[in-house]
Amino acid sequence: MILCNLILFTLRISLSGTYEVSIMQVQFGSCRIELTHGDITTQQVDAVVNAANSRLAGGGGVDGAIHRVGGKSVMEETRSKFPEGCPTGSAVATSAGRLPAKFVFHAVGPIWRGGVAGEADLLASAYRRCLELAVEHSCHRIAFPALSTGAYGYPMDLAAERSLATVRDFLLEHQQPELVRFVLFDGGSFGAFARALEAMSE
Ligand code: APR
Repeated sequence: MILCNLILFTLRISLSGTYEVSIMQVQFGSCRIELTHGDITTQQVDAVVNAANSRLAGGGGVDGAIHRVGGKSVMEETRSKFPEGCPTGSAVATSAGRLPAKFVFHAVGPIWRGGVAGEADLLASAYRRCLELAVEHSCHRIAFPALSTGAYGYPMDLAAERSLATVRDFLLEHQQPELVRFVLFDGGSFGAFARALEAMSE
């Protein structure tokens, strides 16, 4: 049975001799998964996802960048609405302060412990909760970083496969949100996600 109509293309625009922008998209009915190089804090979407910790205490990487650019109102709201933090595999929503988005979804991915501690299911569950929050908050466009692949040490290839499959399954079932963008910080993570997305589309 054909579940969806896949259209896959890769666009590489050479802006100069040294800089290249890569974008890859796959269409699932009326929804789209998109991969792009870049910084999560510059994304003009309805919601950006933060790679948070379970105390929602802030940190480095994506978390540091989101709070730095979003400003102190994001942490103030997080502390006052979610003093208990957020369990691993889940996510909570706040407004986005000075970020060019309406919401931040603070998602807690798993720490990699060799793959034997339920990491794959927890990673999938963190992505799914963000997509549910997108639907609950009427967000049509959402941008994710590669959750758990930095300080939390999840191997990039494995994270790419699981993250993309989780989003694809959600879009096929719910037909929303209309755009899910993965914002990948470097060539290595973009390559891993591009390979996984291509394999998934064959
Ligand atoms: N935009 C997009 N991606 C980014 C950015 C950014 N500004 N900064 C880092 N990344 C990439 C990293 O290269 C990595 O591939 O996002 C991915 C996730 O990295 P982390 O931010 O370290 O997130 P994670 O592995 O989930 O670890 C979460 O780190 O900062 C702390 O408080 C946070 O304790 C939590 C832990």
